[in-house]
Amino acid sequence: MRTLVVDHPLVAHKLTALRDERTASPTFRRLADELVTLLAYEATREVRVVPVEVTTPVATTTGRHLGTPLPLVVPILRAGLGMLDGMTRLLPTAEVGFLGMVRDETSLVATAYASRLPEDLTGREVFVLDPMLATGGTLITTVQLLRDRGAERITAICLLAAPEGMAALEAAFPDGELTVVCAAVDERLTERGYITPGLGDAGDRLYGVV
Ligand code: URA
Repeated sequence: MRTLVVDHPLVAHKLTALRDERTASPTFRRLADELVTLLAYEATREVRVVPVEVTTPVATTTGRHLGTPLPLVVPILRAGLGMLDGMTRLLPTAEVGFLGMVRDETSLVATAYASRLPEDLTGREVFVLDPMLATGGTLITTVQLLRDRGAERITAICLLAAPEGMAALEAAFPDGELTVVCAAVDERLTERGYITPGLGDAGDRLYGVV
């Protein structure tokens, strides 16, 4: 696994505002959106491009545009939806799949309860959006599912990560098949599975308690 913690003053500024318990949902959504765009800029640094000829008003030159198959963006429901616009702003031609994951509270194993993804992901670059990398269970199941369908390069974009989740992902994917990009790695998980200091329940902060 490769890890990139994006060390940038604007990332730190927006993350700090997200952490603040006084930040209400409308502001939280806007800040999360802006933060994801900054993370996406780093996460797409190695996205596949192909050379293309372009004629400017002055001359012809060789530029680059996104290669095919186009990247696939997969928000994990529900909180990952709050990251989708920020991601597609940078990759407007990407395709979008959806995955709903639920965790069995006894076994702690995550399974998919809703899935709208291409059956064949051979050669695809996939960007998974999940704001909180806590135990890592959801991402382990997700990455395994995507790999089983042939996905080639998988990047998980998270706002925050816990060391416990990072260690679990590292153990599950020791090679370079997964990259995790996040704004910070926090101290630890609480007994209730919250990242501390964290920002609370990302889904509730984005959309309210429903
Ligand atoms: N999911 C969240 O929304 N918050 C946490 O702190 C951990 C998991």
